[in-house]
Amino acid sequence: MDSEGYTTRKAEKSEASAIVSFLHEHHSPEAVITKGFFAKNRARITDAEIQLMDESWEKFVSEAPSLVTIHKASNQIVGAIVLVPVDNPNLYSEEKPSGERSKILDEFDVIFERIYAEVNLVDRFPQAKRAMKLRSMAVHKDHRGKGLAKVLLRESVNWAKKHGFDLVHSFFTFPAAKKAALRSGFSKVMDYDMHSVKDTDGSCAFADLSPNNVTSIMALEIR
Ligand SMILES: CC(C)(COP(=O)(O)OP(=O)(O)OC[C@H]1O[C@@H](n2cnc3c(N)ncnc32)[C@H](O)[C@@H]1OP(=O)(O)O)[C@@H](O)C(=O)NCCC(=O)NCCS
Repeated sequence: MDSEGYTTRKAEKSEASAIVSFLHEHHSPEAVITKGFFAKNRARITDAEIQLMDESWEKFVSEAPSLVTIHKASNQIVGAIVLVPVDNPNLYSEEKPSGERSKILDEFDVIFERIYAEVNLVDRFPQAKRAMKLRSMAVHKDHRGKGLAKVLLRESVNWAKKHGFDLVHSFFTFPAAKKAALRSGFSKVMDYDMHSVKDTDGSCAFADLSPNNVTSIMALEIR
């Protein structure tokens, strides 16, 4: 889809590493949950862990359908979102890739598995047969406030519709992301105060969360 000066389209497989670099720069440092989890675990994140995380994230992105927004004048990626088809929307991660895995990423998955079980999308949307989860939406700092997140979300829903999905869902924490989702037709399913999420040792699983620590689980049913 074209908006003034931009095109949003499905990413090519060959763009996976460019998307990973883009998300490293524009998503992870700001996305509240990711940032909080990495801040909490900073001391345990070794170079080897970083390498394992990067490899597994790159493999994941190259296999998932992603959308990118291209700034026509510079031909640069200025927006991205990763689309994840899920067989069971109550699970956070689908089959884990084989081979050596980052312990930190596994712990992150365990925390989100608990949250997803509690949110229980399966019971909330009993009609839904095929769900798609959205992950890691980001827009380049210099291109924000121009409606590009809304275009990414609407195009994600269009993609889901075209491919036979009937439920699209995600967690939205950043205020602009919540607004973009509501404006794109998503409804709030539940709010989750990330301060209440506990680590295995009983402490808060995230650090430096305030003030935007309430994540909204939102969904859009396609009928
Ligand atoms: C969240 C993000 C993707 C939004 O991208 P964007 O292209 O600037 O968003 P849009 O221009 O489509 O704006 C969406 C809505 O949020 C509003 N908005 C923009 N910046 C805002 C801000 N800082 N606070 C509150 N609302 C804001 C816009 O006005 C718009 O609402 P409107 O339709 O009522 O005018 C971008 O800020 C980002 O990449 N953040 C860092 C990564 C991140 O946190 N990702 C989401 C994880 S939940």
